[in-house]
Amino acid sequence: MRRHITDLAGKDYITHDVDVAIIGSGLAGLYAAYHLPDALSCALFTKSKMQTSSSSLAQGGIAAVTEKDDQFLYHYMDTITAGAGLCDEDAVRLIVREGPSEIETMQKIGTRFDLNGEGRLMTTREGGHGMHRILHAGGDATGQEMVRALEKAVGSKPNVRLHENAFAADVWTCGDRVCGVTVFERNEWHLYRTGHLLIASGGIGQIYRYTTNPVVATADGIAMAARAGAKLKDMEFIQFHPTGLYTPENRNRQCFLISEAMRGEGAILRNQKGQRFMKKAHPLAELAPRDIVSREIYAQIQNQTLPYVRLNIASADPDFLIKRFPTIYHKCLEHGIDITRDDIPVGPVQHYMMGGVQTDLWGSTQIRGLYCCGEAACTGVHGANRLASNSTLECLVFGRRCAQTIAGSAMESPACSAEPVTGENRAIAFDTEALIIELKGIMVKYCGIVRSGEQLRTGLSRVGEIGKMLEKAKLNTIRDMELCNMVTVAAEILRSAIKRRISVGSHYRTDGEAQAND
Ligand code: SIN
Repeated sequence: MRRHITDLAGKDYITHDVDVAIIGSGLAGLYAAYHLPDALSCALFTKSKMQTSSSSLAQGGIAAVTEKDDQFLYHYMDTITAGAGLCDEDAVRLIVREGPSEIETMQKIGTRFDLNGEGRLMTTREGGHGMHRILHAGGDATGQEMVRALEKAVGSKPNVRLHENAFAADVWTCGDRVCGVTVFERNEWHLYRTGHLLIASGGIGQIYRYTTNPVVATADGIAMAARAGAKLKDMEFIQFHPTGLYTPENRNRQCFLISEAMRGEGAILRNQKGQRFMKKAHPLAELAPRDIVSREIYAQIQNQTLPYVRLNIASADPDFLIKRFPTIYHKCLEHGIDITRDDIPVGPVQHYMMGGVQTDLWGSTQIRGLYCCGEAACTGVHGANRLASNSTLECLVFGRRCAQTIAGSAMESPACSAEPVTGENRAIAFDTEALIIELKGIMVKYCGIVRSGEQLRTGLSRVGEIGKMLEKAKLNTIRDMELCNMVTVAAEILRSAIKRRISVGSHYRTDGEAQAND
């Protein structure tokens, strides 16, 4: 793996000094920035607009114990069960216990969670949850509302500077610690010298052909951490959401999500023959953990001619549906589907990555001064399959914990001798877009919902060839760098999936024995 994708040989760049740099404007990055003491200068970089993130797209909600009949133990058990026994129990205990106070903080800063007639938080159920514990906002616009409130709160902090359209490329290290990050912004290269760098840059969805992730989800943070020597963990565990809206134009960009909360409110899945198949597949039927519903839909689609199954909630009151799911209602109407009446065509699409940069319970990686939280991190909370709406919760708990870790660390400025000039790359012609499309095809074909050792090795062989070609290539555009990041992470996913020979959680191998899960 190449060490850097930035090579500023012969180019001018501008140097800045900050106490803390954060990459990513989703819930994790913003919540960390919010919790940093005012005495620390902070630059927060996002490669597109502030609201362009998977967090902003989160529909269903955020899981937390708020109902009287719910308990931390129940939330803990549901998380461990969904994670197929591979969760880090301490990490789960921690997010479950710290969840309710993060919700209070979010309310204090102005998040308008949906309330019932008595002014109490409304809750719903989602797959794998035994209780009503999913809070939501704006019906199905929970992420958007949380990001709005946080952006406002962070925007009023004098010590935090928000940088939009700023692409962070490489972590620079001096000895064993972080000393800076290179960023492309306003058509210029910058070196931000800092001793504290937090990667909160989200997931990897764009390496798949079908994903709910926005087009910015190109694995940049995970790849840059790996290049700097940080350890990655559980990369084979990719979550496929059961109900992406099926439309022929979904390919290669972003699929619209039909929230699991819709099944929480009673939506039913039927195959082409009109049979309700989930009842036979699992005692929780449509509300079984996500990996199980996705695999069952996949199996149904293999046995029918239509490339989708049907989701129906038309038996619910139309006024309730329009108010509860306004985003989904309007998006479906754009496609000629009236959810109060019609079936919704759906199928499994890549949605989340359980693995990522390995951290401890305070968000630290193995590299001094490098922290990670949110989807880019592997805190161990999710194990082999994430429980619905635990990701938004994890962003808050670990975003705040990262900020506390940084605040408690010495602010000595590392003697930064980093020069983002390696001079080691050469001009090689390649078609970036064609390679990205090829990569997406490989991942869907060889590393999808169902995989085998042979498929994974075939996938790795071609991804490895592309990676080798890019190893010493001059990367001229941001898109070239994104390609390089996606190829690096795809190879890591394939390698991890080859190594884990058993089927467990979201990693289902046709040639693997199922792991006993007790
Ligand atoms: C959804 O609304 O179904 C997505 C929630 C999640 O990813 O946990």
